[in-house]
Amino acid sequence: MAGQLHITSELSEYVQRMSLREDEILRSLREKTATLPTGGAMQVMAEEGQLLTLLARLTGARTVLEVGTFTGYSTLCLARAVAPGGRVITCDITERWLHLGVPYWRRAGVLDRIDTRIGDASDTLATLLLDEGPGSVDLVFIDADKPGYSKYYEASLPLLRDNGLIVVDNTLFLGRVADPAARDADTEAVREFNALLREDRRVDVSLLPMADGITLVRKKGPAEPPC
Ligand SMILES: C[S@@+](CC[C@H](N)C(=O)[O-])C[C@H]1O[C@@H](n2cnc3c(N)ncnc32)[C@H](O)[C@@H]1O
Repeated sequence: MAGQLHITSELSEYVQRMSLREDEILRSLREKTATLPTGGAMQVMAEEGQLLTLLARLTGARTVLEVGTFTGYSTLCLARAVAPGGRVITCDITERWLHLGVPYWRRAGVLDRIDTRIGDASDTLATLLLDEGPGSVDLVFIDADKPGYSKYYEASLPLLRDNGLIVVDNTLFLGRVADPAARDADTEAVREFNALLREDRRVDVSLLPMADGITLVRKKGPAEPPC
């Protein structure tokens, strides 16, 4: 069996041609976001958005929590996937970019399924635990400031139901995690988070070398073995 495939630009284009189903609404939101100075770099890749939709459908998620809304591309991918009567609670520290995404959410017919919360994610997650209770969330997507990752993960676990899924973006952080010369705070925070997960027996973990690194985390139930 071969090892990890190196993804050339030709292969990446092939993957897009063969599997990407980004529709006109998502594409327009992507193009609009790309006009912002940091737009392209902040937003999830289209392939990742499609994966989020698939995972939310696969898990039958009714309540999804997103940490890091930005212009709402990943929010839209998740909102389209939630089961009937479901919702996406999405939070961001600023509403600066929210107005960009809302018209696309409306056009896609999912605006009423999206509950936006503005404020620091730590506060929002603490409030959610009090208001909604433990185990009230089926799927969490973490894609915000990197120094907050370990905190957001710990605060998400009690909110998540047993067998629920946490998806974490940028866990390879432009490949910098494996570069010993990279000592900046963001890279160190992602390294620390990956190391925390490595030892965490409360969950099953898989780090996918897709896009900028996507980690899938499944919360075990109380009766499950620790290994
Ligand atoms: C990478 S962007 C999210 C991209 C989004 N998932 C998408 O695909 O379009 C990260 C977002 O996290 C937000 N953020 C940064 N620090 C935060 C904090 N302490 N609490 C909540 N959100 C935060 C930023 O404002 C930014 O919009």
